[in-house]
Amino acid sequence: AKGGLVVAAAHIDDTPRFAWRGLMLDSARHFWTVDEIKQLLDAMATHKLNTFHWHLTDDQGWRIEIRKYPKLTQVGGCRVPGGDAGIGADGKPVQYCGYYTQDEIREVVAYAAARHIDIVPEFDVPGHATAAISAYPELGVTDAKLAPSSEWGVFQNLFNTEEATFAFLEDVLAEVAALFPGKYIHVGGDEAVKNQWIASPRVQQRMRELGANDAMAMQSHIIKRLETFLDGKGKRLIGWDEILEGGLPPQATVMSWRGTEGGIEAAKTGHDVVMSPASDLYLDYLQTHSPNEPPGRPAIIPLKQVYAFEPVPAALDAAQARHILGLQANAWSEHMRTFERVQHNLFPRLAAVAETGWSPKARKDYPGFLARLSAELARWNAQGVAYAKTPFEVSIAAGDAANGTSNITLGNALGYPDIRYTT
Ligand code: ACM
Repeated sequence: AKGGLVVAAAHIDDTPRFAWRGLMLDSARHFWTVDEIKQLLDAMATHKLNTFHWHLTDDQGWRIEIRKYPKLTQVGGCRVPGGDAGIGADGKPVQYCGYYTQDEIREVVAYAAARHIDIVPEFDVPGHATAAISAYPELGVTDAKLAPSSEWGVFQNLFNTEEATFAFLEDVLAEVAALFPGKYIHVGGDEAVKNQWIASPRVQQRMRELGANDAMAMQSHIIKRLETFLDGKGKRLIGWDEILEGGLPPQATVMSWRGTEGGIEAAKTGHDVVMSPASDLYLDYLQTHSPNEPPGRPAIIPLKQVYAFEPVPAALDAAQARHILGLQANAWSEHMRTFERVQHNLFPRLAAVAETGWSPKARKDYPGFLARLSAELARWNAQGVAYAKTPFEVSIAAGDAANGTSNITLGNALGYPDIRYTT
C-alpha cells in the first residue's frame, strides 16, 4: 500500500516441505530474452520457487555461448522454422536465431541468486544433439549434413563415442560449470534413440573397446564419465529418468518425467529424485477445453490435477521417501511462440506446483487454494503476469428445450461454486 502497512509483531513458524521447488523453461525450441527470463524469475520468487532448470540445448537450437566452440551458437543458434513460417516474403529461408552470451548468463545467475533461486543448466547428451552436430559434424555418428531441426519431435542424431567427442562434452561442461555456481548440472539423457549407434560399425567397435555390451550400457558409460568429470568440479549430475537404463552413476539424481516409476526405482536404490511427470506437471499441455486456449499439447492437465499431484509415492518407505527432493513443472516451448503464451500456460498452474512444494501435505486444500487464487490474480495483474483467463471463463451449454422452457447449463473449468449472471 502507498501509505505503508503496519503489521503486528508476530512469530512466523514456516518451512518448506521440499528443498527442490522447480520450474524448467525450454529456451531451445523458442528463445526467451534475458528480460523475459528475469520476469519469470521474479514470478518464481514470489511463489517461493527456488530452482530454475534452464533447457539450453536441443535439436532445434544451441542457446549458450561456449568460448571454445563458437560455431555452437553461430551455426547451432539458428534454425529455419518449419512450414510457411520458414519462407520470407522474398521467397528465401527465414532464420530464427538466439543465444545467451556468457555475460548475459552471469547476469541472469546473479539476478536469480538475489531472489534465492538456483539455476540448473541443461546440456542434453547423447541425443537432442542435432544443433551441436550441425555446428561440428565430427561429433556425429553419420556423414549426413545436418542443420538445426526445423520441426518438433524426437530425432535420431546422437553424439558419437570417440575420445575427442568425450573431450568436447567435458570442455562444454567445464565452461557451463564455471558459469553456474549451483550444485547441479543436468545432462539430459532423454529420448536418445540408439539406432545410429547400433547401425554404426565404428560405434560397435568403440563399445567393444569400452566394455559396453549394448547401447544402453554405452549411454551409461558416457553418463558415468560425465559424473566423474563433474564430481571433480564439485558438481552433482542430474538427468532425465532414461539415465537409469544401463545403470546409474553412483551420485546421480534422477528427474522422473515418464511418470513416477523412474523416480521410485531411483529412490529405492538410494538415489535422489525430482518428480516432474509429464502426466501431471508438464505445463505445455492444455489446461482447459476452452476454444480460447492458445496452441498446446493436446491433452488437458487442469489446475486441479496439477494441485493434486503428490510427489512422494506411496510405494516408498520413510527412508526411501527422503530421497524425493521435490517437484518441478516443465514448460517445453514447441507450442509457445510468444512469452505471453508461456505465461498463459504457466499461470495459474505454477501456483499449484508452488503450494505443493511448500505446504505440508495435510494443509493442502483445493477449495482453499481456489478461494485464495483471487488475491493472487490481483497480484499477477499488478506484476504484469499474463496468466490464463481460460480457467476462469464461464462455459454455457444449451440443453433440450421442452414445454416452452430451455435449459442452459453454466459451468466453470475450475469448479468455482458461485456463478453470477444477469439476463
Ligand atoms: C522430456 O520430456 N523429453 C524430458
